Amino acid sequence: MYREGGEAMKSEIERMREFEWPLDVSAKMLSEHLEGKTVGDIGAGPNPNLGKLVESRGGKYVALDMNFAMAKMQKESAPERNAVNADITHLPFQDGQFDILHTRFVMMNLPASQRADAIRELARCGKENVVLDYDWTKFQSESPQVQAFIVSARKLGELAGSDLDFGWKSKQFIEATLARSEGITEERFNQGPIKDYKTIAGLAKSMQGLAKNLQNMETQSAAREGRAVNQELIETLNGLIAATAESESQFAETAALEDQSGVIPFTSPDIVAVTF
Ligand SMILES: C[S@@+](CC[C@H](N)C(=O)[O-])C[C@H]1O[C@@H](n2cnc3c(N)ncnc32)[C@H](O)[C@@H]1O
Repeated sequence: MYREGGEAMKSEIERMREFEWPLDVSAKMLSEHLEGKTVGDIGAGPNPNLGKLVESRGGKYVALDMNFAMAKMQKESAPERNAVNADITHLPFQDGQFDILHTRFVMMNLPASQRADAIRELARCGKENVVLDYDWTKFQSESPQVQAFIVSARKLGELAGSDLDFGWKSKQFIEATLARSEGITEERFNQGPIKDYKTIAGLAKSMQGLAKNLQNMETQSAAREGRAVNQELIETLNGLIAATAESESQFAETAALEDQSGVIPFTSPDIVAVTF
């Protein structure tokens, strides 16, 4: 989603560094005792907290990311930390090199044509794997404002080539790719009805960043390919920038209300964890 860098990436980095609930889910999925175990984090992003968690449980953490800036941030987050700049579809590791590979919110953002190769690479390098993705079908609310935001965010996900519902089908996809079902399990996590409008204000901000990033990518690729910019796409993205900015300010206002009693709750997307 954020391969081109720039402002949008900066704001997404800030958001990803604040992830709390996804870390709780990852923590539940990893063994309490990791003494002597090697844990690879594929598509690790900028957040150093999984590394800290693994090391606090006695494991050795290695981060990998295709984006050089992300790998560099991981490397700099702890003196002993190993970080690798590489692609999930060509992991520079030996067969079975890792006791555990953890891959969170990467599969859903990969181009669909690369997903099967990615799963085969994980199965080759990790003795155990845990793959976590969102299932946005569970992101629901009676609030028209939240509903409107979900529509805009879904449209953006589509334009960015992400599958926000990948978690819904990830187990089935992994089974089909590996041509087996034994030893493949699924667990779902949801925060239940919540009124945490600060978090969705952040998500709305990040979606605006994504829309701006998509506009830059379109302008840059048109210049590279010597073709006219797709004005229809630019206009659609302008509309989505305006809509997500509106959502952000509405959610921020709701978050700032002292009395939350009249606020309509929403259910977060599920995080689906598949192990194999
Ligand atoms: C949405 S972020 C998730 C980051 C982190 N796993 C987390 O949950 O906080 C997706 C990450 O995957 C990385 N990524 C995208 N495509 C990749 C690929 N082909 N190989 C390796 N990493 C990739 C991106 O650079 C980004 O850091």
